[in-house]
Amino acid sequence: MEVNHILNEIPKLTSFKWYGKVTQVVGLLIEARGPQASIGKLCYISTEKKPSKKIMAEVVGFKDGKVLLMPFDTLQDIAPGSLVESTRNPLRINVGTDLIGKVVDGIGRPLQGMDSGKGSIPYPTDNAPPNPMERPRISSPLNLGIRAVDSLFTVGKGQRMGIFAGSGVGKSTMMAMIAKNSDADVNVIALIGERGREVKEFIERDLGEEGLKKTIVVVATSDQPALMRIKGAMTATAIAEYFRDLGMNVTLMMDSVTRVAMAQREIGLAVGEPPTTKGYTPSVFAILPRLLERSGTNKFGSITAFYTVLVDGDDLSEPVADAVRGILDGHLVLDRKLANKGQFPAVNVLKSVSRVMKDIVAKDHIQAADKIRNLISIYEESEDLITIGAYKNGSNKDVDEAIRLQPQIISFLKQGNEEEVSFQESIDQLKKTVGKV
Ligand SMILES: Nc1ncnc2c1ncn2[C@@H]1O[C@H](COP(=O)(O)OP(=O)(O)O)[C@@H](O)[C@H]1O
Ligand SMILES: [Mg+2]
Repeated sequence: MEVNHILNEIPKLTSFKWYGKVTQVVGLLIEARGPQASIGKLCYISTEKKPSKKIMAEVVGFKDGKVLLMPFDTLQDIAPGSLVESTRNPLRINVGTDLIGKVVDGIGRPLQGMDSGKGSIPYPTDNAPPNPMERPRISSPLNLGIRAVDSLFTVGKGQRMGIFAGSGVGKSTMMAMIAKNSDADVNVIALIGERGREVKEFIERDLGEEGLKKTIVVVATSDQPALMRIKGAMTATAIAEYFRDLGMNVTLMMDSVTRVAMAQREIGLAVGEPPTTKGYTPSVFAILPRLLERSGTNKFGSITAFYTVLVDGDDLSEPVADAVRGILDGHLVLDRKLANKGQFPAVNVLKSVSRVMKDIVAKDHIQAADKIRNLISIYEESEDLITIGAYKNGSNKDVDEAIRLQPQIISFLKQGNEEEVSFQESIDQLKKTVGKV
């Protein structure tokens, strides 16, 4: 009786509930007996060498009565029997207006030795998207300062766009131009899964001091654990949400959501999920909508978001691209063929679309944009004939016009990375380029 009574009490003891011990480490995964923590809870693992050095880890699953954890850091110094302590809370980051102009890691800690600043509050990273019924409709354009996009694929405040591109076709340059030229109150840029050198180049060369002024850069490089890369995407989104709730118009740029998907695949495979399309696990396709639906409008402000997706060549049917395209309100395709010709920004006009544009701009603007698309399409259809000189001028009125306007259209679409244009200038130049419609 007495013994049974004691045994019944044991699970209620806090030390039993909140602490556990490492039993095994397999690959990226730590197995522990205890603590009694649910999925997503943050734990600290004390290391063998220095009890003061604790490794942050998150509960990612359970198996045969054991708790499965993933570290935010390397597994170095974790030993059998290492103490696991549950914080009873999910990860929280420190956010505040002090973050503006700073570069932070995947969990919001400022790099370059800057402190996280006064006035910051703890903020969860994994938040629910706004209630769809309470989301205001997208009603006004956001000036991005990129002529080809503002005029032909006008993006509304709170719209979510994909940027589909391979490497070296101008994603980073475009994000930096948006950060510098757009009318947003604040920019949040997440660099996920890039190499350290690329990050440094982006911040110092593309963004520069001027671009960083109203920007927060969240960095989780390719050498960091998968969990840290996922958190980078969550943290950047959470920071954008914080500023949206202050009533601001925020732009969120995530480069790349493909690398976020790959990080989730790594975690999924480690915990034993089955691989499906292209080795991606089901949780990848569960996490994408949950992450991407968090941007957009809410009753306070807006997050206009750009998510880059790595695509090889013209293959837009790659599973991540496919999933992302279904969730977002449009996409820009950056074309390597155009980049190779030196046409920057390398926006493929015929393959890109903004699904919100027709609701937020004037009719004559839409007509001019349709006209330019039509001219480009006619030119492309006859391009082979034109280049070999087999097209005889005068055979077709429309083709004649497309050939005549081609040089103006190209120079209208081109924009140097230092060149600034206002929204109105872009539209005026569009109308001038296509003439009377
Ligand atoms: N608007 C632009 N004007 C001139 N050159 C550009 C422009 N955008 C991109 N480039 C050129 O393309 C290169 C690769 O661009 P980057 O933005 O780094 O591509 P990605 O991020 O897609 O790998 C740049 O180093 C630059 O030379
Ligand atoms: Mg880049």
